[in-house]
Amino acid sequence: MDLQGINLGLCMCGSFCTFGEVMREVEKLSKRKIKIHPIFSYNADSINTRFGAVEDFREKLYDITGNEIISTIKEAEPIGPQKLLDIMLVAPCTGNTMAKLANGITDTPVTMACKAHLRNDRPLVLAPATNDALGVSLKNIGELMIRKNIYFVPFGQDNPEKKPLSMIADFSRIYDTLCLAMEGKQIQPIVF
Ligand SMILES: Cc1cc2nc3c(=O)[nH]c(=O)nc-3n(C[C@H](O)[C@H](O)[C@H](O)COP(=O)(O)O)c2cc1C
Repeated sequence: MDLQGINLGLCMCGSFCTFGEVMREVEKLSKRKIKIHPIFSYNADSINTRFGAVEDFREKLYDITGNEIISTIKEAEPIGPQKLLDIMLVAPCTGNTMAKLANGITDTPVTMACKAHLRNDRPLVLAPATNDALGVSLKNIGELMIRKNIYFVPFGQDNPEKKPLSMIADFSRIYDTLCLAMEGKQIQPIVF
């Protein structure tokens, strides 16, 4: 399936070390003429880290997508009633946001955007990056995996020796995952 011209919501959560890699993939999606609508969690929008400053990420994302970043719950809510998006991507998706999505907690722009989008019976794709994927987050991943309309970018252990519970999505598979999710299919293998 060709995704040219579709409206993609791009939710970014506070897995700051993956922002650079995700931005590179977002650039590729933009070159494929996908219309990208960025959404930041409160933490993604406010915490400057050694991986970069919020303002720089905001600017870069605006340059790539041409769209202002949605960064409040109020701005995210119309995604539902206005049926703004064909598909939603959460990349990176933190353990924190997965816990909220799995348990119906809607208290950030990202969780609001996902909830609003899901009510339209449209696909939501998660690209996890969390140090506790095989720990406390595992039950949330399992819960989300069996939900209707939720798909995963393939993910695997990034450093089993030093971080045995950590897993991270292969962000280079985002496009392929989106293509299949638009057809209602989960890309395989989910875990590598
Ligand atoms: C430098 C830094 C890196 C972080 N990396 C991650 C990460 O890769 N995965 C993760 O789940 N949380 C990570 N966190 C913790 C999240 O930012 C934190 O749980 C936050 O509450 C997430 O909020 P959000 O899901 O609303 O964006 C990191 C925090 C900091 C300060």
